[in-house]
Amino acid sequence: MAAKKYLVPMSRPDINGDDQQAVLETLQTNYLSIGPRIQAFEQSFLDYTGASHAIGVNSGTSGLHLCVRAAGISEGDLVITTPFSFVSSTNVILFEHAVPVFVDVDPKTGNIDPLQVKQAAADITSNDPEKLNKWLPRKHTKKTYSLKAILPVDVYGQPADYDLLQETAGDYGLTLIEDSCEALGAEYKHKKAGRFGNFGVFAFYPNKQITTGEGGLVITDDDHYANMVRALRNQGRAPGDTWLQHTYLGYNYRLDELSAALGVSQMKRINKLLEKRDRVANWYNTKLDAMSGVEKPFISPNTTKMSWFVYVIRLDKRFDRDKVAEKLDREGIPVRPYFLPIHLQPYMVNQFGYRSGDYPVTENLGGRSLALPFSGKMTESQVDLVCTKLSKCLRD
Ligand SMILES: Cc1ncc(COP(=O)(O)O)c(C=O)c1O
Repeated sequence: MAAKKYLVPMSRPDINGDDQQAVLETLQTNYLSIGPRIQAFEQSFLDYTGASHAIGVNSGTSGLHLCVRAAGISEGDLVITTPFSFVSSTNVILFEHAVPVFVDVDPKTGNIDPLQVKQAAADITSNDPEKLNKWLPRKHTKKTYSLKAILPVDVYGQPADYDLLQETAGDYGLTLIEDSCEALGAEYKHKKAGRFGNFGVFAFYPNKQITTGEGGLVITDDDHYANMVRALRNQGRAPGDTWLQHTYLGYNYRLDELSAALGVSQMKRINKLLEKRDRVANWYNTKLDAMSGVEKPFISPNTTKMSWFVYVIRLDKRFDRDKVAEKLDREGIPVRPYFLPIHLQPYMVNQFGYRSGDYPVTENLGGRSLALPFSGKMTESQVDLVCTKLSKCLRD
C-alpha cells in the first residue's frame, strides 16, 4: 500500500551536508563497527553532559535494558515507574521478569508524581502486606517482593521532578534509572537531564533532537555500572576477555560506526538543533494562544531548559480526541495520541489484569493528548497551516 501523502510530515530529521560527508567517509574506512567513531561519539557526550562514562548502544530501549541488567534487577524485583510513557520504559523491566509498580503522574507535566513515589516506597518496604498490595498489579504471582529501583521518564523533553525522587532513592537504597530518551539537552534547576540518576539514557531515532538512524547512549558516573553496560552491550565480554570469551550472558547492542559518525556530526551542532526546535515550539505557542479548547504544553518553573521532542496539546474534554485526529488526518495533517497509557496496552492487561480507572491522571492525559507535526525543520507557514486546520477541525 502506498504511504499516505500529508501536507506536513509528522517529523523530519535535520541532516546536512556535513552529516552526509561523515557517513560517506566512514564507508571508505575499514571500520564499520567497533572503531574510532563510537569513541568520538561517546566523548561528545562526556563533554556535553559532564558524566564520567558514556556508552553508545543501538537503541534507547537497549540502553535502558542494559541499565536494568547492570543494576542486577531480576525476577521478583519491583521497579517504581510511570504508566505515561513510551512502552520501552516498562518493557525493559518485564524483559528481566521484574514487576513494574506504576505510580500516577502530575496532571500538568505528565511526569511521575514524586510524592506518590515516596509513598509507594514507604508502603512497599513497610512489611505490611496490605500496604504492599495497594501498589502491586491485580495479577501477581508472589507473596514477597524486593523493591530495587525507580525509573522516571523525562516526558516530551521535560525533566521529571528530581529533588524528591533522588531523596527517596537515597532513603530506600534504590537505583535511579533516568529515561531521558526524549530529553537530550533539557535542564532541571540548571542541571542536564540524564545526570540525576545512577544512569541516564538517551535515544536517537530520527524524530529525536539528534539522530543516528537508530541508536542510544547510557551515561553514568559509576565505574562498575559502566563496565557492566560495556560488557553486556558487547556479547557479555568483560574487560580482558578475548573475542570468544564471554564472562556474562550479553547482547549485541553495539552502535555501528556509520550511525556513530552521524551522531558525532549531529552533536557538533546540538545547540543549533535545539534552538531550531525552540523556535518551532514558540510559533506553536503563539498561534495556539487564543485557540479555545486547546491546552498548550505546561513547562514547570523547575525546567530551566526545555528540550522540545514533540509538541503535544491537550484538548478540552468536550472534544472527542480520536474524532479530531481522524478529521485532521483527512485534512492532510498527521497527529498522534501521544501517549496511550502503558497499563492499558493489551499485553499489560493480559499479564497484570489492569483496568480502566487504575491510573486516572494518566488515562485523562492519554485520552486528551494530541502530538502535532513537529521538527526543527518546520517553517512558520507549516505551523500556520497545522493551526488553521486544527481550528477548523475543532469548529466543524
Ligand atoms: C520515553 C522513551 N523511552 C524509551 C524510548 C526508546 O527508544 P528507542 O526507540 O531508541 O528504542 C523512547 C523512544 O521513543 C522514548 O520516547
